[in-house]
Amino acid sequence: MDNGAPMRIGPHRIDPPVILAPMAGVTDRPFRQLCRRLGAGLAVSEMTHSDPSLWHTEKSRLRMDHRGEAAPIAVQIAGYDPDMMANAARHNVEHGAQIIDINMGCPAKKVCRVDAGSALLKDEALVAAICAAVVAAVPVPVTLKIRTGYDRSRRNAVAIARIAQDAGIAALTVHGRTREDHYEGEAEYETLAAVKQAVRIPVIANGDVTSPQKAAAVLRATGADALMIGRGALGNPWIFNEIATYLATGHTSLEPALEEVGATLLGHLDELYAFYGPGRGVRVARKHIQWYCQDHAGSEKLWLAVNRVECEQSQRALVAEFFAAGLRKQAA
Ligand SMILES: Cc1cc2nc3c(=O)[nH]c(=O)nc-3n(C[C@H](O)[C@H](O)[C@H](O)COP(=O)(O)O)c2cc1C
Repeated sequence: MDNGAPMRIGPHRIDPPVILAPMAGVTDRPFRQLCRRLGAGLAVSEMTHSDPSLWHTEKSRLRMDHRGEAAPIAVQIAGYDPDMMANAARHNVEHGAQIIDINMGCPAKKVCRVDAGSALLKDEALVAAICAAVVAAVPVPVTLKIRTGYDRSRRNAVAIARIAQDAGIAALTVHGRTREDHYEGEAEYETLAAVKQAVRIPVIANGDVTSPQKAAAVLRATGADALMIGRGALGNPWIFNEIATYLATGHTSLEPALEEVGATLLGHLDELYAFYGPGRGVRVARKHIQWYCQDHAGSEKLWLAVNRVECEQSQRALVAEFFAAGLRKQAA
């Protein structure tokens, strides 16, 4: 970003260089499409497991559904075995993936119990083997997502970055925490700056970017080519455009009006109902409703009511009434 050149992952131009992070249980197709429509330059899917015995579940089927998604479609894979990861990459490319992202950033127990996700950072030879196997398996660019190391005494992100580059990885995302930090404390960006200095491939900075001002500060501190936003996008898909506008002009945009928040959330709910079907759509929607509404007066009451209803029409009506009441109050 520092030299004004567009950010690229292989042949794909990532514009703006502000990317939705992979988040299991969150970055499903409806949320990815919404974030892309509202300004994200790229949106990475929830991780798909590399174990083929899990690909036939309903969960995996939905995770591999990319109908109507804007290119480039980026799919994250998680696992620990180079051959299985290569196989998973091929399978996802056959199902539409145009970028494969390898997960070595997730501290979740489910992944780490089998030494996948960020636990792999302890084993540099295995990191090299996984990267090389996946790069060789597919004709599309492969990216890698890591943390700064396994724990603070083993911050080996610079070594891993060089390994990734040598293996043919097309871009590297670094979350400024170690695996042992989980989500505690503040993300640190010194290691990201060192990574950026050490490699030629694009580096994507991740961790605690929740505002345009923080985005600019992280880019200044790291020299990174792009930013990845996770929790800052929950209930706030406008953040991508806000950051892009601020980086381009130095001006902050107006917050979305209550009317726009309500209309966007209702549209998001309709997409979730259509994608997941009755029952599951309502359950998945609950957390999104909480994220969109948490800063608005009366959200606790709405939250209690939303948790009591099981059908789409009732859930949607509660949300519509919440925003209509807010608008009536504003008008009074
Ligand atoms: C609910 C949730 C699910 C996540 N799932 C994944 C995942 O599947 N793969 C991954 O690499 N990281 C995952 N992460 C980590 C995020 O991609 C990101 O690295 C982290 O949240 C730090 O960025 P942030 O401070 O902008 O949220 C997840 C984070 C959250 C909050």
